[in-house]
Amino acid sequence: MITASELRTKYLEFFKSKQHTIISSASLIPENDPTVLFNTAGMQPLVPYLAGEKHPEGTRLADAQKCIRTGDIEEVGDDTHLTFFEMMGNWSLGDYFKKESIEFSWEFLTSDKWLNIDPKKLSVTVFEGEGSIEKDEEAAEIWKSLGMPEYRITYLGREDNWWGPAGNTGPCGPDTEIFYWVGEGEAPLDSNPGNDEDNWVEIWNNVFMQYNKTAGGEFEPLKQKNVDTGLGLERVTAILNGYKTIYEVDTLKPIYEAVKNIAVDKSNEKAIRIITDHMRAAVMIMGDDRGVSPSNLDQGYIVRRLIRVSIRRGRELGVNNEFVSDIAQVVIDVMKDAYPELERNKTRVLAELKVEEEKFSKVLEKGEIAVQKFVADGKISGEEAFTLYASYGFPIEEIQKLGVEVDMVDFEQRIKKHQEISRKGSEQKFSGGLADHSEETTRLHTATHLLHAALRAVLGDHVVQKGSNITADRLRFDFSHPDKMTDKEKQDVEDWVNDKIDKKIPVNFQEMTVEEAKAKGAMGLFTQKYGEKIKVYTVGNDEETASIEICGGPHVKNTSELGHFKIKKEQASSAGVRRIKGILE
Ligand code: ALA
Repeated sequence: MITASELRTKYLEFFKSKQHTIISSASLIPENDPTVLFNTAGMQPLVPYLAGEKHPEGTRLADAQKCIRTGDIEEVGDDTHLTFFEMMGNWSLGDYFKKESIEFSWEFLTSDKWLNIDPKKLSVTVFEGEGSIEKDEEAAEIWKSLGMPEYRITYLGREDNWWGPAGNTGPCGPDTEIFYWVGEGEAPLDSNPGNDEDNWVEIWNNVFMQYNKTAGGEFEPLKQKNVDTGLGLERVTAILNGYKTIYEVDTLKPIYEAVKNIAVDKSNEKAIRIITDHMRAAVMIMGDDRGVSPSNLDQGYIVRRLIRVSIRRGRELGVNNEFVSDIAQVVIDVMKDAYPELERNKTRVLAELKVEEEKFSKVLEKGEIAVQKFVADGKISGEEAFTLYASYGFPIEEIQKLGVEVDMVDFEQRIKKHQEISRKGSEQKFSGGLADHSEETTRLHTATHLLHAALRAVLGDHVVQKGSNITADRLRFDFSHPDKMTDKEKQDVEDWVNDKIDKKIPVNFQEMTVEEAKAKGAMGLFTQKYGEKIKVYTVGNDEETASIEICGGPHVKNTSELGHFKIKKEQASSAGVRRIKGILE
């Protein structure tokens, strides 16, 4: 048997022995990147470095990154899909390429010093080529040289063997994927991951990341050839142990057991699994140092949904009393060794969960009363059901549970229209981004650092960054502050930023350890482990230091490149968090 944490440790030790520096997981909340709400892959926090910025820890890195994927949320409850998972990864930033990358994976998987997997259980796929991008015979040859038989190498197209970008734009490239045989007996010679998907499970993806997809949809070569790999920790742990479901893995099982324990109806396996997954994901997001609270916006909305679905599923299991904090406590106990921030943020997380659970129970109560008002002859119209959903947050399933008949055709049409409108809005919002490294986004990025410093100067030291999102047109900055800003405060903040721009202050970075950065008074999240090296950007000259912040870059060289800063909007984001949208004119 191998536990998830043993696999995590082995993976990192192996890459350390191959001269990789082990870096800490970044926050689940991406910085500056407007293309995604959460980090969905290990490469995401590394985008600036994949694009050519120098990483302070060198050109060979490895880590375990916290990831959230909501795209597969409908599948959650099956044997393999999770909302939160840990992705093991190793990177070459313009260092080694296909040969070493494939050799490392092979050695780690098959050497008796490491995972000691029988090579007969492995099969790989490589990119078959498309347009100007060649068939990856190079990767296939490397596999063969290691002893992979030709019949275990399958060429597949863009759908299978191309990775990225994570959002609409950014680094991407062809990949080679490694699969593990989970079928009965030995794999037949003509069976491969392309024609026998149920019996071959993907365990590792090695991406040869050498292109950048632009907002215009073109693939331009990156400055350097990188390697980005991803191995899903929970999934691979389950496979190596021969578990039928991922819920048997040690980082899920105690949570699953705790849910089952409080369930009155223990036969509803799907609901037990969904609560296990959703509560684990909600706690990991809320317990992140960037600390998202439930709200109706962006990441906060996802957290709210995860909690509320858990509560509703709990009722299905016959749990009618409050339970989410108890389950959260188990999540924290299971995950805190690998992610100590959970212990640090525990009090806040448990308190916020309690508030959210109380809020939702009021929603349910009020919703039930409202349903009775709308109901006529035991029926309710699609329009009224939609109003209940959109204004009260009352889920359709709850209406149905009351034995009320809903005009579902009409309701679903209204929901569809609603979703189309919001999808359109988000597509526009997410076009382009810092991943483009365009001049506009770089300027707005530097302006964001100045804005952060200005807010602290004007409003006070309680202001810390909660989120940053930059497109080519505007910056968006979330920060902790209890009150709506007055017109005077907004003016003062604008003036502070514009004063630094007028003073033509240089922007520079230094590499230092996290302790040195702290001692220097740098702003930012200190998620790194002792001694880890980070990049710190300073906007300052001999006369004054406007801002010191932990950051991957890129930035302008001098504030004089920024133009004129203007706040376009100041609004609430979630409880205790304000949001500013700003532009450079
Ligand atoms: N970025 C690659 C993935 O997520 C490794 O699969």
